[in-house]
Amino acid sequence: MSALTGLLDLVMAPLVPLSFGRPGLRLRRGSFTEPGRLDGRHVVITGANSGIGRAATVAMVKRGARVTMVCRDRGRAEAARDEIELVAGSPGLVAVELCDVARLDDMAGLASRLRDPIDVVIHNAGVLPPGRIDTEDNLELTWATHIAGPHLLLRLLRPRLAATARIVLVSSGGMYLVPLVAPATLPEPYDGVRAYAFTKRAQVVLAELWAEHDPLGPRVVAMHPGWVDTSAVRNSLPGFHRLMRPLLRDPAGGADTLDWLAACPPAQLEPGGFYFDRKRRPTHVVPWRRDRPETRAALWRWCNAVTEPYLTAGQGSARSASTRPGNAS
Ligand SMILES: NC(=O)c1ccc[n+]([C@@H]2O[C@H](COP(=O)([O-])OP(=O)(O)OC[C@H]3O[C@@H](n4cnc5c(N)ncnc54)[C@H](OP(=O)(O)O)[C@@H]3O)[C@@H](O)[C@H]2O)c1
Repeated sequence: MSALTGLLDLVMAPLVPLSFGRPGLRLRRGSFTEPGRLDGRHVVITGANSGIGRAATVAMVKRGARVTMVCRDRGRAEAARDEIELVAGSPGLVAVELCDVARLDDMAGLASRLRDPIDVVIHNAGVLPPGRIDTEDNLELTWATHIAGPHLLLRLLRPRLAATARIVLVSSGGMYLVPLVAPATLPEPYDGVRAYAFTKRAQVVLAELWAEHDPLGPRVVAMHPGWVDTSAVRNSLPGFHRLMRPLLRDPAGGADTLDWLAACPPAQLEPGGFYFDRKRRPTHVVPWRRDRPETRAALWRWCNAVTEPYLTAGQGSARSASTRPGNAS
């Protein structure tokens, strides 16, 4: 862990532990109401085999949704699917699609395999790498996973999505610590925590940009789950985890707003909004702060440029496949 990572790891701890942790959720839960059923709706969620994604899948299946779990490892995915079906008590509602969301050819293949109608897409897969990793597309891993992959999937699915469809980008409260930076900017020297925060900030802006550029399209929003006790936090931020453990939410608590965003009445979902604990939130600590318009425009151009080569219909890796034939609808 670099010195900066160690420092951020510690500095993050005392910032907003009550709000982002379990006490905040417990406090707000008192005013929560039932968002409604998802019977017959098809939800696609990435990174669904563990942590928040797994908990969100359980919650949405219990609400009646058919869920396609998008995961990169067949063994982990199928084990999680079997457990989820058991816990949710609804066999046959969960499908698995294998896909590495950081690989653009895999995402293109996924888009061509997903069956319509698609009502909700949740981009939950996330990564905080210990060191710089570049993908086969020559993209740094956090930019590929959090930005390029989700943007490509949305571009490919866009013609098939109804205006009622919902797209959710799972960001992080860590994005409050950084400004919007030029696309693909990396900290020098490389620091996974800052790269993570840059791309989580960019996800929030990407949701706003989709709302601006495609006002008649699906509702694209971002959210953050709070501080949640998952393997990602345990492994990537061990100091933070040790210090904050008693306050961390369980994965179901972190997944609550995802479940709500999938099921809430349409009037409660503002395109481009950033949500936490079922409520739209400011995107900057100081509410009057703004992202630079030229950086926002550059982000949109970059997203379109890196995904452009993969827009041809049917393109994509043949190595990924559904693990249950015909079950991705
Ligand atoms: N936990 C928190 O406090 C917290 C706070 C803010 C935001 N978040 C966000 O919440 C989301 C879920 O994180 P988590 O805390 O639940 O961690 P987690 O348990 O580690 O889950 C991350 C999931 O993403 C998957 N994933 C990562 N890279 C992938 C790729 N290239 N292709 C396909 N799947 C990939 C992982 O799959 P494998 O099992 O194959 O690795 C795993 O299923 C992330 O976006 C994270 O940034 C979490």
